[in-house]
Amino acid sequence: MTQDELKTQVGLAALQYVQNGEIVGVGTGSTVNKFIDALASAIAAGQIKIAGTVSSSVASTEKLKGHGIPVFEANDVTRLGVYIDGADEIDGDGYMVKGGGAALTREKIVASLADKFVCIADESKLVKTLGAFPLPVEVIPMAADHIQRRFAAKGGTATIRMKDGVPLITDNGQHILDVTGLSIKEPLAFELGVNQWAGVVTVGVFAQQKASVCLLGTSTGVRVLEF
Ligand code: 5RP
Repeated sequence: MTQDELKTQVGLAALQYVQNGEIVGVGTGSTVNKFIDALASAIAAGQIKIAGTVSSSVASTEKLKGHGIPVFEANDVTRLGVYIDGADEIDGDGYMVKGGGAALTREKIVASLADKFVCIADESKLVKTLGAFPLPVEVIPMAADHIQRRFAAKGGTATIRMKDGVPLITDNGQHILDVTGLSIKEPLAFELGVNQWAGVVTVGVFAQQKASVCLLGTSTGVRVLEF
């Protein structure tokens, strides 16, 4: 199976966590795009009827609306039954690195509203220790140099993410640092620590908002990991 087929497989499998009548939290990325397509097909076929969604990015909002699926503001809901999103890395405890699509801040906000975080990922995302994937950190631009120095003191190299020759601007108007050279052995402590640094908007370690379950796409079918 190709990686794309594995993503399709888990996007479809995630439908079992969608409850009729609920508002569903929707993440961002190529795996989530498969879920959105599967959700739209299930709604069109009359198999699922949801009240709407809360989206974690402009890109997912546009895709959901393109399918005619209602999107509510996060401030309009008090809780979500489920949040469905991909990951760049997930470890054996359900801790994740996210933000490859630069949507980490809104992803963490929507995830924090949900009772259950369903991570959908192909098997390449399962790791022993987080950190091989460059860690995304959303930062206030005027703090970027200082935060780069703080990561250097931890043995990391933080680089401003570029797009079309200029720093990428997130949906929140900020910049992203991608940090290589880290081995994140204590994700909870790491997340709490880096979140305290002045100018950090969000660090892409999802430890407090870790996965409740991971649907892992493998060539022999979907593996369900519960945490
Ligand atoms: C976006 C994310 C994505 O969930 C993560 O990058 C995985 O993306 P993909 O499903 O395309 O591999 O965190 O900010």
